[in-house]
Amino acid sequence: MSATSTIVAIDGPAGAGKSTIAKALAKRLELDYLDTGAMYRAVTHAAIERGVPLDDAVAVGEVARGITILVTDGRTCVDGVDVSDLIRGTIVTSGVSTVAANSEVRRVMRDLQRAWGDERPGGVIEGRDIGTIVFPDATLKVYLTASPRVRAQRRVGQVGGDLEETERSIVERDHKDSSRSDSPLVTSADSVVVDTSDRSVDEVVEEIVTLVEGRHGSERA
Ligand code: CDP
Repeated sequence: MSATSTIVAIDGPAGAGKSTIAKALAKRLELDYLDTGAMYRAVTHAAIERGVPLDDAVAVGEVARGITILVTDGRTCVDGVDVSDLIRGTIVTSGVSTVAANSEVRRVMRDLQRAWGDERPGGVIEGRDIGTIVFPDATLKVYLTASPRVRAQRRVGQVGGDLEETERSIVERDHKDSSRSDSPLVTSADSVVVDTSDRSVDEVVEEIVTLVEGRHGSERA
């Protein structure tokens, strides 16, 4: 990223509202938006489609290196094929944390994400390790969170399903994402923690816009 670019990193656990808030924020700030979770989901889908066992780290790493992933305007394509709906299904969701713990996969995704940031004057990027690893010099790092019950309720509202089962699966994925050795989901000392449990999307977006403006103000000072 260049010294003048605006990178807003939005990290946090499943269902914390990252996608909704990151998209709205990008619109407000007139920046592009990147959903890095879709990239890990795309690799997971590609590996499953090729019959590669997700715990075969070498083979899954080869899949990540061999495919072309395009994430734009809410759609995700792998080698030119739109997989946007498939990557949100339960099979990919239950395998994605295993693929995301693969260091070779992470290396490939990290390079793609940094290249995405370098190609534009900035962006809003959501994920798990954006502020900690991918863009440690981001203009602003936000860690979005909410209680597991609220997060499960939101997910059920979006895609349906049983509340208890959804909460159990979210807690399990959080645990895997937070306890892996490579780029775990953690807050960093310089991230702003925002709890979205009892707050509207607009309120949270406004708070983040104010924080970004504050960062630019302190740069100019
Ligand atoms: O939308 P949801 O919160 O369910 O998850 P996602 O953002 O689509 O991410 C799916 C999975 O990808 C996460 O559970 C992580 O295992 C992984 N991921 C990651 O490891 N690092 C990122 N920067 C983004 C996602």
